[in-house]
Amino acid sequence: MTEMLKIVDLHAVAGEREILKGVNLSVSEGETCVLFGPNGSGKSTLMATIMGYSTIEVTSGQILFKGEDITELSVDQRAKLGIGMMMQRPPNIFGVKLGDLIKASSSCGEEVLKDASKFKMQNFLDREVNVGFSGGEIKRSELLQLTAQRPDFILLDEPESGVDLENIDLIGSKVRDLLYKGRSCMGNVQRHVSSLVITHTGQILDYIGADRAYVMKEGRICCSGRPMDLLKEIKENGYGECATCQTMIKL
Ligand SMILES: Nc1ncnc2c1ncn2[C@@H]1O[C@H](COP(=O)(O)OP(=O)(O)OP(=O)(O)O)[C@@H](O)[C@H]1O
Ligand SMILES: [Mg+2]
Repeated sequence: MTEMLKIVDLHAVAGEREILKGVNLSVSEGETCVLFGPNGSGKSTLMATIMGYSTIEVTSGQILFKGEDITELSVDQRAKLGIGMMMQRPPNIFGVKLGDLIKASSSCGEEVLKDASKFKMQNFLDREVNVGFSGGEIKRSELLQLTAQRPDFILLDEPESGVDLENIDLIGSKVRDLLYKGRSCMGNVQRHVSSLVITHTGQILDYIGADRAYVMKEGRICCSGRPMDLLKEIKENGYGECATCQTMIKL
């Protein structure tokens, strides 16, 4: 399988603190990888670093995307290459209407706005992005933006957190559509889009399945393995002992 994303010994600093301390990780074409890890271990920072946020400074290491070194590229250059992200806590964007942002992210123009009702976002298009949105509304809005953008590598930072039981079904099925490029059933259809997904509960995995999981601790990937095996291990033993590190493939 072709490698979509490869991260090599990545070190990064935010707020004068080293958060990423030598991350190694890869995601192949069509692969869905999960990123587990305790609060504060650096998972969101890693995603923000892959996306190229200016608040994070890469001090050494490399981010390769489709074989190209993107470590020095800007956020918009990375987005144009096909990377998209659903943030854990996206900012309010005052003065920009959601509908205008969606139109600007898509090559389909007005046409893409028709998708809004499928995300229950048709009444939000005239509102400023995220301003006053509830937690669940923010998730649906982020996903609608991603659908307009149609990236071929998707970073999902806790897509199901704070989402009620009814909306989790909507979020899960829309994420699945994104990964399968609109194909409606998982069956034996090949996934085309690659993704890296952060989840604490694993709920989203019921909808999209996953091929491989990584565990991050204190700014490093400490082990990888089969997603459901690792999740079970974490639920039973927590991250403290991480017996998995002794039993699964060491990186
Ligand atoms: N700009 C910054 N300045 C100082 N510290 C920062 C900055 N950005 C992130 N951190 C710190 O880096 C650590 C990792 O944060 P990050 O958000 O990546 O964790 P996480 O693994 O996503 O956690 P969670 O599961 O709670 O979302 C935290 O201790 C956080 O406070
Ligand atoms: Mg986080």
